[in-house]
Amino acid sequence: LPLVILISGRGSNLQAILEQSRSGQLPVEIRAVISNRPQAQGLERAQRAGIETRVLDHRQYPNREAFDLALMKVIDRYAPELVVLAGFMRILTAEFVRHYQGRLMNIHPSLLPNFPGLDTHRRALQAGKREHGASVHFVTNKVDGGPIILQARVPIYPGDTPDTLAARVLEEEHRIYPEAIRAFAEGKIRLEEERVHWIKD
Ligand code: GRF
Repeated sequence: LPLVILISGRGSNLQAILEQSRSGQLPVEIRAVISNRPQAQGLERAQRAGIETRVLDHRQYPNREAFDLALMKVIDRYAPELVVLAGFMRILTAEFVRHYQGRLMNIHPSLLPNFPGLDTHRRALQAGKREHGASVHFVTNKVDGGPIILQARVPIYPGDTPDTLAARVLEEEHRIYPEAIRAFAEGKIRLEEERVHWIKD
């Protein structure tokens, strides 16, 4: 399955996908990694793996519409069947989301619908939750509100800080994101009328 992966930073989820693809556990071909931040650490990870990288700095575009249009153009040159948001920290326009409907995935560090948006680990602690986690979902126009493909739960322990909790959640992210991509690559999931349809084999 041809993929394009969008990042903004560290790229540890990208790395997890990369490694599974390299070891043959994930039937994907990563055609490009695109970052909106020139300094994203994930760009080096991609380069080390011999994957083509592109930077589209959003600050060089007059507005969100112009940036998203340019981004779509670049992505479509690689003809991906799935676009993977892996720590891509920008809200996408309705036009972008519509263009990739059913082939745009995101990972979010919370048990959605709890804690959409930023700073999820601190908010989960402040809310006194005993459980937290991560969600992979198809992207729709509701930010962090698209149909959920997979979730992973982790306990919250007394004494947890946003950092200790983030590390526990991240480990699960690295497990479920490749798993969701594999399900898509194997034709086991499909977005149908705002729902995730699982196809049994
Ligand atoms: C992850 O926690 C992801 O869920 C969130 O941003 C973080 C990205 O981490 N959307 P990385 O760049 O994959 O290391």
